[in-house]
Amino acid sequence: MSCNLPDVLTIALSKGRIMNDTLDLMRKACVSVPAEMEDSRKFILDSPDGQLRFIVAKPTDVPTFVEYGVADLGIVGKDVLLEADRDLYELLDLGIGRCRVCVCGTPEQLGKEIHRVASKYPKIASDYFRRLGRQVEVIFLNGQVELAPLIGLADRIVDIVETGRTLRENGLEIHEEIAEITTRVVANRMSFRLKNQPINQLIDQLRQVRLVRA
Ligand code: PRP
Repeated sequence: MSCNLPDVLTIALSKGRIMNDTLDLMRKACVSVPAEMEDSRKFILDSPDGQLRFIVAKPTDVPTFVEYGVADLGIVGKDVLLEADRDLYELLDLGIGRCRVCVCGTPEQLGKEIHRVASKYPKIASDYFRRLGRQVEVIFLNGQVELAPLIGLADRIVDIVETGRTLRENGLEIHEEIAEITTRVVANRMSFRLKNQPINQLIDQLRQVRLVRA
């Protein structure tokens, strides 16, 4: 088993849409990032200065790795954090990966009653409709959620909208906005106490370069 080394900070990075912006931001912040990070198929990479260890993970696994302490820090979207509902410290908003979680449907469905909602985010969807006192059935899908209203599986979806292109190309539109999403740095509670100095130093470096909305 690969264990956390006491003096090394282990950071779980979300692969996929936010990875390149995360690495750009880290390099701008003078964080020592392995040069081969973007091209490698390795899942564990150490920084050139030996102070950081990066775990490349599926975004939905990042909160799990951080809560269980196999990573001290995680970099992950707020959408994933809301859905996972793990016991973590949220330390910094990096301002990248900006998108929205929305209720979407066809123009014809706008204003009509909602019965079934398809989503990759069943918790976010259920919490939202429960808060509003609206009774709906939520169906979990793994991806390409926009298909659901087109094939008659659901009459709405709850999904992230970034550019809006996927919605447009599938004849759907935003009906309601649930949350604004950005990428966050989260910490394991124990690591935050035991490795406070290096964690704070890294957070300070990232704070200098994070994207702040104009
Ligand atoms: C996400 C999301 C939408 C799309 C939104 O899917 O679920 O489908 O991106 O982006 P846009 O507004 O810029 O079009 P993702 O690409 O992560 O793949 P998936 O559908 O397979 O989950």
